[in-house]
Parts: sequence; C-alpha cells; structure tokens
Amino acid sequence: MTSRAVNPGARVLVVGGGYSGERFARAAAARGAEVWLTYRRSKPEQPADPGTAPLHWLHFDAEAQAIPPLPEQLSHVLITLPPDASGSDAALEHLLEPLRQQPLRWLGYLSTTGVYGDSQGAWVDEHSPTQPTLARSQARLQCEQRWLSSGLPVQSFRLPAIYGPGRCPFEQLRSGQARLVHKPGQVFCRIHVDDIVGALLHATDQAEGRRPPVINVSDNVPCPSSETLGYAAHLLGCKLPNVQRFEAIAPQMSPMALSFWADNRRVRNNLLCGDLGYRLRYPSYREGFAASLAEEQRRSAKQP
Ligand SMILES: NC(=O)c1ccc[n+]([C@@H]2O[C@H](COP(=O)([O-])OP(=O)(O)OC[C@H]3O[C@@H](n4cnc5c(N)ncnc54)[C@H](OP(=O)(O)O)[C@@H]3O)[C@@H](O)[C@H]2O)c1
Repeated sequence: MTSRAVNPGARVLVVGGGYSGERFARAAAARGAEVWLTYRRSKPEQPADPGTAPLHWLHFDAEAQAIPPLPEQLSHVLITLPPDASGSDAALEHLLEPLRQQPLRWLGYLSTTGVYGDSQGAWVDEHSPTQPTLARSQARLQCEQRWLSSGLPVQSFRLPAIYGPGRCPFEQLRSGQARLVHKPGQVFCRIHVDDIVGALLHATDQAEGRRPPVINVSDNVPCPSSETLGYAAHLLGCKLPNVQRFEAIAPQMSPMALSFWADNRRVRNNLLCGDLGYRLRYPSYREGFAASLAEEQRRSAKQP
C-alpha cells in the first residue's frame, strides 16, 4: 500500500500561501517535505528564525498572466483559493490540467461549511444536504464539486471561521473597534488554524481505505460571538463594549458584514474526531484564544 503521509521525500505544493496555506507549508516542511507555495501580490518575507525549513515561493496570478510551471514529481497539493467574485477558481482554470500530469497521492481542498446553508441552529454533518444560501457559498459548492469529480485523489475540508494568532478579536478590543452584538439563538462555529493543519496532516496519515471525500473541520463548541468576545476581553483584562441588538444595527451593516449573520448552524466533527481519530489541539475557543494570545505576545516580544 502506498503511503500518503507527508514525510521526507514528499514534494508538496500549496496553492495560495495565505494564512492557512503558509502554516500548512511550514508544518509539511518541518516533517521533512520539500515545499513550494504560491503568492499573488507580494512575496512574503522568509522568517528570520534560524532552523526553520526553507520554502520555495512561486508567483501565481492569472490576471497578471503569471502561471508558474509546476515543480516535477509532486506528491501532495493543497488548494486554499476561494472562488473569485465571478465564482471562478483560478487553480481549477489554470492548474488542473498540469496537475493531472503529476504523480499525486493526495490533493486537499479547503472549502467552507457555508455549503450547508442555514440550518437555523441545527447540527449538520457531512451527510446533511448542501443548500447554500449565499452566492459565494453556491460558487464554493460548485468549485468543490469540480475538484471532487476531477479524478484526482481529492479530499475536501469544510471549514467554519478560521482563527489563530493575528486572527482573534484582541486588537479590535484594544482599539475600541470590537462590537458586542446580540442576535437571539445565533451561533458560530470556528476552528484554530493549527487544527486545520493538524487535520490535513492526519488525513494524509490515514490508510488508503480511510479517505472520506468530505470532512468537516470544526471545534466542539459552537457558540455566540458575544461569548467569544467576552472571553477575549477576560484574557486581556479589558472592558467589553456595550451590547448592541442585531436588529438595531443591521441597517447600518455592510452587505458583507450582514452575510456573516445570515446562516446559523452547528457543525459536527464526529467523522474527523470520532471515526478518523483526530484529537483537536484546541477543542474550544478558550484554549485556542489563550494559545493565540501567547503566540502574539511571543512574536511582539521578538520584534525590535
Ligand atoms: N477565513 C475564514 O474564516 C474562512 C472560513 C471558512 C473557509 N475559508 C476558506 O478557507 C481557505 C483558506 O482561508 P485563509 O483565511 O487561510 O485564506 P487567505 O489567508 O486569504 O489565503 C488565500 C491565499 O490564496 C491566494 N489567492 C486567492 N485568490 C487567488 C487567485 N485568484 N489567484 C491566486 N492566488 C489567490 C491569496 O493571495 P492574496 O493574499 O494575494 O489574496 C492567499 O495567498 C479559503 O478558501 C477561504 O475562503 C476561510
């Protein structure tokens, strides 16, 4: 049986070296893999930390006609690009055919739990119907389905809100920009970026027969955003802003901000954490926020 694990000898391409993509790339490199990742606008700086494995950056920007030739003999690919405003996926359009020429053992696609649509707070799992309400989630479902039916060894990972160092509400609280909004019955699901990375690597570690095409990657504690903001303020030891009722402020919210409040669902992770045996590093926002704050503080202590 061929191993699909990311090990020394693996040759990994991350299409979209953004927040989750770069974190995955570093974890794959730390496992001894040779890793390439793409940037669109400006090439991120390499970390100054000695001992961190080098990453190879490729310029991929279809609008600027920058389509990189792919490295040879790729074993693993992670696609992190969302569909663009017209619903098109630049990786599907420009890289799918070259990827067919590669000896791929695994292709991970980062999708969203938005594909389930609005369950009005009920739990959804991978067998639940996909009834996306938002246009961007409808486009996402189409892209996900095209990847899944591409004939490549694809697994799609459906993600709720991603948080982690630099993506917690600490800065908003400090700067007075945070909003404490109450919408009765509304919950959000979330996942720490390192649990995305952990779940992806765990999936590649599984034997051939344990390869579900779609996996939810969500933590154990769906809850209102007012609860997570309260905990962030507790960690900082700062005051919370006054509560605002959703109906009162909705008329002043941008369409994008409103769209985040449109769906209400609880996402089950039983497939990942039960059947496949993945152990969440951050089962809830409580451990995840504390670890994120500690990492942010370590980073700012290192800055001159
Ligand atoms: N953030 C969330 O809470 C959340 C929740 C659920 C699902 N997701 C999905 O999960 C995935 C990873 O999220 P993330 O927050 O880690 O993403 P991210 O930080 O925005 O990274 C995405 C990367 O893809 C690149 N990219 C996007 N469109 C591109 C295009 N047309 N051509 C070339 N490169 C392109 C971006 O480049 P630039 O930096 O130049 O844009 C960036 O490097 C995304 O598909 C996202 O939609 C996110």
